[in-house]
Amino acid sequence: MTDHNHSTGVQHYIDQGQAMLAGLAAHRAAMRGKKFDTIAVHGLYGMQAALGNQGSIIEPVYMSTAQHFENSDHMEAALSYQMPGWIYSRVANPTVGFLEETLALLEGYGFGGEVTACATASGMAAVFMATNPFLERDGSGPINFVASAKCYGGTFMLFSERYARERGIELRWVKNPLDFDEWAGQIDANTRFVFGEMPSNPGLGMFDIAALAELAHGHGLPLIIDSTVATPALMRPLLHGADIVVQSVSKAMTTSGFAIAGAVIARANIPSRVGPDALRQNFALYVKLLPFRDHGPGISPFSAMMILNDLRTLRSKVNLMSTSAMRVAQFLADQPQIEQVFYPGLPGTPEYAIAQKYMWLVDAEEEFGAPVNRFSHLLGFTVAGGPAAARKFFDQLQMIWRATDLGRVKTVATIPAISTHQQQGEEGRDLANVAGNLVRLSVGAEHPADIIGDLEQALAAVGERTVMAAAR
Ligand SMILES: Cc1ncc(COP(=O)(O)O)c(C=O)c1O
Repeated sequence: MTDHNHSTGVQHYIDQGQAMLAGLAAHRAAMRGKKFDTIAVHGLYGMQAALGNQGSIIEPVYMSTAQHFENSDHMEAALSYQMPGWIYSRVANPTVGFLEETLALLEGYGFGGEVTACATASGMAAVFMATNPFLERDGSGPINFVASAKCYGGTFMLFSERYARERGIELRWVKNPLDFDEWAGQIDANTRFVFGEMPSNPGLGMFDIAALAELAHGHGLPLIIDSTVATPALMRPLLHGADIVVQSVSKAMTTSGFAIAGAVIARANIPSRVGPDALRQNFALYVKLLPFRDHGPGISPFSAMMILNDLRTLRSKVNLMSTSAMRVAQFLADQPQIEQVFYPGLPGTPEYAIAQKYMWLVDAEEEFGAPVNRFSHLLGFTVAGGPAAARKFFDQLQMIWRATDLGRVKTVATIPAISTHQQQGEEGRDLANVAGNLVRLSVGAEHPADIIGDLEQALAAVGERTVMAAAR
């Protein structure tokens, strides 16, 4: 065979790849016209894909590590990324691909432009993959990034230990994310990205996404939002100007608790002061094809299937859990043993106004006759009497699980200062406003009366005497 024939052979597969991509684009466009629940149920797995999979109406789980190729031309076209293929499961996988398409469609629901997702082995891997590409050293001097200190403890550690201490990158915390001027004062010519968690875990901290996006874009910077607590059922930051969304898919997106996973989801044509054009044009695809392949935080196809199954009912579960969380928050706000409740749905909470602006149950109009606010399944509260009283209350819980988890169909509580936010130390917790007597509660799908009943009996154990002592 001559070289000419060889390239013709590769070209055959490139052409085949173009036809595959056109088919996918048409299917994606058709699904974008459907409602949120329909997208959550079907994603991009339709009849044509099923006919290639023994007619299976449920997405097949491809546990195989690698893809077999018809011949060397096919292999060359796929491995040089000139045609779609899944190659090797660390790089891509068909079941993971179905998950990525669903996540992109859900996060992009109601958004006009193209949205792409890269699924990762955990939420932390997603935070890493969404931020690390912007921290490239280009020899132009010191670099920094700006982030809200009200964030998950793992993110706090990635930023402060791995990026700042180990790599000497300047980390500029924003202590009060509601204060726009604090964000504005931290950005300069050496900043690489702006990052915020909204609402934050565990304090339900918030900020004005649209204003922050405008600020970041004015400096040519991407705005990255960790939207894990809200999920796309309540808030889709891309609609408000954010460039990249990070999800710990392990949480309310997988209420069953059967998988650890994350996702980087981005719109097309994001701003960046560094990196190749491909990074700006399609960030999530760039990450998937290059840094993700090289760092290796691939997700198991079995996990992807567990998540797909949970995602199908995301909206109704988030609605139920958020409605119950509101009832629980109202109950807690009235208890003498509680100092403060952190829940943006409660009037009087500093985040109340911003939560009203951003947190809406998707497609609620048909069910409720009008749009409705929902404020998520997560809340925090401080127990009067300090850390000892908080532990006493916590140890008394009879049904609510004591675990470092959230977003479950089962109600779960933790004390962040001794668990999720323990590693960052006292100073780091002060910065993030995580007090020693703060309890985090993730409200599940049990009947709210039983959740409240368990809280009530545990609060009784804290006792009036502790409360009176604390009040003195
Ligand atoms: C807001 C937020 N982001 C990221 C993460 C990290 O996710 P994962 O545990 O899936 O690595 C968590 C975990 O608790 C989280 O709550």
